[in-house]
Amino acid sequence: MNQDSWKDLKYAAGTYAAEWVADGMVVGLGSGSTARHTTLRIAERLREGSLTDIVAVPTSNDTAALARGQGIRVVTLGTLYERLGELTANVEPPPDGRVIDLTIDGADEVDSHLDAIKGLGGFLLREKIVASVTRREVLVVDETKLVSCLGSSAPVPVEVARFGWQGIRVALERTGAETALRQRDGRPYVTDEGHYILDCRYGEIACAQELATTLQAIPGVIGHGLFLGMVHAVVVASRDGVYTMER
Ligand code: A5P
Repeated sequence: MNQDSWKDLKYAAGTYAAEWVADGMVVGLGSGSTARHTTLRIAERLREGSLTDIVAVPTSNDTAALARGQGIRVVTLGTLYERLGELTANVEPPPDGRVIDLTIDGADEVDSHLDAIKGLGGFLLREKIVASVTRREVLVVDETKLVSCLGSSAPVPVEVARFGWQGIRVALERTGAETALRQRDGRPYVTDEGHYILDCRYGEIACAQELATTLQAIPGVIGHGLFLGMVHAVVVASRDGVYTMER
């Protein structure tokens, strides 16, 4: 696939899902080049008047800047909990704490169970926190992201404390991973929450749930990019058109 058709597919997936946003919703805005199209289309709908009264929670500083620049009303998750009654029609958070109606985010790999690897963009921690308090988590992907087994092409990004990260790396390698400290401009990449990322390459992951439990138990691991059982729908843009996979 050439670069242009690939970009077109990202545009198709991102803009398709933006039509699912309805008036008055609290919307989680994802990160990455596909979710960027969603944010831009939401802003366009607000300007056109086909959408009103939404409040958005971005999953990264980049997305927050994009959304604000486009005139979308942006709040942090903290503000949402503190001022829910003022910001939306809901008087208080629902008992399950899921204060976001719909989040639309990108992904790096998605399997047929709608489990995913996310975080190659570096925003996995906030993305997962936002997903965990979202009633409907939707991923937008081009068809190249579909895999029969997680891990087949992407590493699992693991967000780790900077303190003693070398020891955390050893622990991660003991789980069978080949690890690489994420770099940007010749320095370790630092996430929006101030941590490092170790990209852990496993190859095909036989039991993602077991791996997720193992990773989360390592002291110093803040979060990982395995999104298991969290996704309700995936919008896939293929060369034959856009379709959705639902849980
Ligand atoms: C960001 O941390 C990731 O989870 C992105 O959602 C992911 O990398 C997808 O990016 P693209 O839409 O740019 O492929």
